[in-house]
Amino acid sequence: MKIKFLLLLSSLFFFLNACSKEDSTVIENLENPLANAPKDVNDNGFRAKWNYVSKSKSYLLDVSTTENFSALVPNYNSKEVTDLNEVVVSLTGGTQYYYRVRAKSETQTSGYSNVISVVTTGTSNVPEDPTFLKVKVNKLANPFFVGMAVKANQLNAGSPYDVILKNEFSSISAEYEMKMDQISVASGVYNWTVADKIVAYGNTNNINVHGHALVWHNSVPSWLANYAGTDAEFSLEVKKYITDVVTHYKGKVKSWDVVNESIADNGSMRNTVFLRRMGPNYVNDCFKWAREAANAAADTQLLLFYNDYATSDNSNKQNAVYTLIDKLITDKLIDGVGFQMHNTIFAPSKIQIEKDLNRAVTKGLKIHISELDMQVNPGNAQSNLTATFTNELRLAQKAKYKEIVKIYNALPKANKYALTVWGMKDNESWIPFSTELNHPGNDWPLLYDSNFAIKSSHTGFLEGLD
Ligand code: G3I
Repeated sequence: MKIKFLLLLSSLFFFLNACSKEDSTVIENLENPLANAPKDVNDNGFRAKWNYVSKSKSYLLDVSTTENFSALVPNYNSKEVTDLNEVVVSLTGGTQYYYRVRAKSETQTSGYSNVISVVTTGTSNVPEDPTFLKVKVNKLANPFFVGMAVKANQLNAGSPYDVILKNEFSSISAEYEMKMDQISVASGVYNWTVADKIVAYGNTNNINVHGHALVWHNSVPSWLANYAGTDAEFSLEVKKYITDVVTHYKGKVKSWDVVNESIADNGSMRNTVFLRRMGPNYVNDCFKWAREAANAAADTQLLLFYNDYATSDNSNKQNAVYTLIDKLITDKLIDGVGFQMHNTIFAPSKIQIEKDLNRAVTKGLKIHISELDMQVNPGNAQSNLTATFTNELRLAQKAKYKEIVKIYNALPKANKYALTVWGMKDNESWIPFSTELNHPGNDWPLLYDSNFAIKSSHTGFLEGLD
């Protein structure tokens, strides 16, 4: 009996020991593969590529027409491949695709790789919707970018915002997340995360990226605003910032607003920390540093813009802006001008806008209507009467959108760059919340309402292209 008990005890010991050994065996996880840019892109397909993953036996390839892989291409739904590349076939020409892979061993499947975007060559036989802004613009003899101001948290694949953006717009500007106060944490210390997300969205989706803005008095980080060093050291900090940002985004950002709003409404130089610490030549200095940084990074195609608001119906300001621009032209530092155009249904007039833009045309500059929106309730005056977006206001706004698009479209080819609308939905516009504009009230300045429904202003935009 005693022997039997001892035998039982020792076999129990061996059993438990074996189990614990098994438990302590480390199961190494398969690494996620790194997908690479495609090769041999043609009208019908491309070669998808990825890196080897240790211990893998094969790879599972997904190809989709949507970035969130909700629309997988038949035959490419976890297609098992034993090589490190696969020729994807039978696709449609001129169409956006995305691919990703997972590694597989005998016992495990890894997580997904990064997502690679690829557009097949040729023309799609799926007809494009002619009521999409960029579709209509791209059919013009002299097309231009149709831009949208974006915030990083709006760029979620598959969301209504993302779908409209990709269908209708061919350029993006960051509404605030690529400004100095967002990127510059301390001298030489940067937070790129959010700005990088915006730039990557543009680059991945074949959307132009306009950089807004390197130097603006309203977006100075507090460490620089309260800088204790000398004026010369302050200038060096600004130079370093411009150099580092232009270099970081070389080849990824096509154009930058180098200086924003340096002229005051009375036509004098705006009294900012930059003017006070760097002197009246600071605008030229900033452009020079941006150009030098771009050249040093071999980014010779980078376009440099001066950006300002309300020049069309303020001749003092307009003259001062063009004097500033003339100096930049003499020094061969500027490529274009951004006219913000935070307009209203009342002003500026067609003639005022044309005259303003034509001064840039005669100087051979590119023109960016850079922040277009159209208040129907300026100064909150209308809401004293009614707090609703009446049909009358709707039609007045449609006519004003049509007018400005027509003016822009009539510009010579060489002077067109982009026409950017400052936000997508009325309820996300800065206008109704602006205390600066004395406008904390109702307004509906954009092309889509709060439910993403197209407004008459959007129709006005389309009609302006006729
Ligand atoms: O700084 C914090 C940020 O850290 C935080 O993540 C965020 C969360 O909401 O808040 C931040 O503040 C933001 C602020 O800019 C920072 O400067 C606000 O949310 C943001 O709405 C804000 O306003 C922007 C403003 O410029 C200042 O940058 C507006 O969205 C944008 O429409 C407005 O755009 C300007 C143009 O750049 C130049 N022309 C005039 C136009 C209207 O003022």
